[in-house]
Amino acid sequence: MRNVTKDNITELVTKALSKDIPPRNRQIMTSLIRHMHDFCREVDLTFEEWLAACEFMRRAGDISDEKRNEFILISDILGVEVLVDMLDHRVTEGESESTVLGPFYRENPPVLPKGASIIKKHFENSQTVRVSGRVLDTAGKPIEGVTIDVWEDAPNGLYDLQDPEQPAYNLRGRFTTDAQGEYAFVAVRPEPYPIPYDGAGGELLNYMGHHPWRPGHIHFMLFKDGYQSLISQIYDADTKYLDSDSVFAVKESLIGKLNKAPSGADTDLVLVFDFRLKRAAAKTLIAAE
Ligand SMILES: [Fe+2]
Repeated sequence: MRNVTKDNITELVTKALSKDIPPRNRQIMTSLIRHMHDFCREVDLTFEEWLAACEFMRRAGDISDEKRNEFILISDILGVEVLVDMLDHRVTEGESESTVLGPFYRENPPVLPKGASIIKKHFENSQTVRVSGRVLDTAGKPIEGVTIDVWEDAPNGLYDLQDPEQPAYNLRGRFTTDAQGEYAFVAVRPEPYPIPYDGAGGELLNYMGHHPWRPGHIHFMLFKDGYQSLISQIYDADTKYLDSDSVFAVKESLIGKLNKAPSGADTDLVLVFDFRLKRAAAKTLIAAE
């Protein structure tokens, strides 16, 4: 290992991996080292740029805590979270597509009856929307008893977690599908909002010349024993940034139209959106060795 050159360094580092590590560790580290070395050679990375990258990572660590993980944000801006989600949740039976969870989910939202409102604070100039639909299996049969958590930002572009002026759990709720597989709730029209850009993630956006905005969307998490859980979002068909989402999470199949409510309705708009869940993979029985 005394004659290290820019051409043999990759082989030297991968060969230095211990023989005792699990195969998956070997696969991941061999590929990571190869891609990182190739990247440095390809862009002819300078020492100054390498040091700037290390300092950038340090700042990302400094701003992170239990509530904020800047590395997730950075991976989102680079399209990595959505890519991993697509790799790990491949659509195989016509089930609804998933997309990123995002950083604003809160455990144990208020449990509400079908049709209830999740609005706890009124904002001027906001529009209310009745969101409803069915949850079906991949054969089109309604599924009763699916738990559905929903959450969205307020008309000021902030989630309750980010805004001391909002009551806790504003615009969050937990619903259950009825015997017809139906769910319904009253929400506000979701507004576009910027992902946090006051830290390392913002520096990266500037470096890339990209804006921080996300299109208006409502988050969903659906789960029931025996079915594969679904984490997804519905996008307002008329929102801005559908074609330039800062975290690349929009999918055509997740766009829903917010139509004007019929006269006499108690919301301004209505949105109908059905979900399909596939059965959870059966546990493979492994014969005794
Ligand atoms: Fe969101």
